[in-house]
Amino acid sequence: MKVLVTGAAGFIGSHLVEALLRRGDEVIGLDNFNDYYDPRRKQANLNAVRNHPRFAFYHADIRDAAHMERIVAHHRPDVIAHLAAMAGVRYSIGRAGLYTDVNIRGTVNLLEAARVNGVSHFVFASTSSVYGKTEQIPFVESDPCNHPLAPYPASKKAGEIIGHTYWQLHGLHFTALRFFSVYGPRGRPDMMPFSVMHAAVNGTPIRLFDGGRMRRDWTYVEDIIHGVVAALERPLGYAVINLGRGNPVWMSDFVQIIAQLVGREVLVEETPAPPSEPKINYADITKAKQLLGYEPRTTVVDGLTEMWRWYQREIMASTGI
Ligand SMILES: NC(=O)c1ccc[n+]([C@@H]2O[C@H](COP(=O)([O-])OP(=O)(O)OC[C@H]3O[C@@H](n4cnc5c(N)ncnc54)[C@H](O)[C@@H]3O)[C@@H](O)[C@H]2O)c1
Repeated sequence: MKVLVTGAAGFIGSHLVEALLRRGDEVIGLDNFNDYYDPRRKQANLNAVRNHPRFAFYHADIRDAAHMERIVAHHRPDVIAHLAAMAGVRYSIGRAGLYTDVNIRGTVNLLEAARVNGVSHFVFASTSSVYGKTEQIPFVESDPCNHPLAPYPASKKAGEIIGHTYWQLHGLHFTALRFFSVYGPRGRPDMMPFSVMHAAVNGTPIRLFDGGRMRRDWTYVEDIIHGVVAALERPLGYAVINLGRGNPVWMSDFVQIIAQLVGREVLVEETPAPPSEPKINYADITKAKQLLGYEPRTTVVDGLTEMWRWYQREIMASTGI
């Protein structure tokens, strides 16, 4: 397969690029290295693949429609894995304009580039946060998800909807994958696994919403990548599919596992959960199993152990980026 991966220098994108190259696929990556977190970390994420003969890379912004069109016209990929986005629920509050430009307009630019150049298949990174405060637990794809709690999930829901239009009007196969709390090596520094490790190592406190009485369906990045690759291989018409672990853990337990791995206590400042944070995210993964043969295998303890090994090797041993 020839795959265009947007957000290729990011956490999940860089793992996807490596997995595709290992399989023998041809990969075109693009990223704008924005400073939502340290761009040097994104550069480092590409170290293993930068000179690979089957990898081409563009420093490019998905908001630039003409550039997206040129890249797609030049390479004519079989499928687009659209992972580039402004991520982060709380950061999106007060930044609806930016999230609209990148996550909605940017997605439309890629859909247009796909349409104009006859690309037949588009896989879109959506999020479990589209479920908001749903009462249907575990979260199931048939839930209408019409009440997102912040601009970020609203922008991702918009991406899912416009994708349907492209399937309906232009026959572009569109699969939205709703990722649930992904973690692992290269994990984003704004997310809990990284920030709790960082706090444990440095003896600084973390803010724990509602004393850790929240549950998250932490899913190891390698399991997510298996699901993404399966989705890239299988055009399904229009599909929305959860990719989670289907086994949420209490945040207080999650913090304890990290404390044990690091061998230090984690100092906790309890704080009430903001309204953008649901009490639980919990994936029903029946559909992913049926349609993608998806089977997450990594326990939270094993996954965090791998992430902690990476943290020691890459973060503690480096210059602090
Ligand atoms: N990590 C998670 O738990 C999680 C959960 C749900 C959904 N997602 C989604 O998965 C995708 C990947 O997330 P991630 O955790 O790897 O985040 P990430 O921030 O590490 O990766 C996103 C990448 O997109 C790039 N990017 C942002 N704006 C861009 C633009 N205008 N043009 C080109 N590139 C741009 C960033 O520089 C970054 O490298 C995102 O779409 C995110 O919304 C992630």
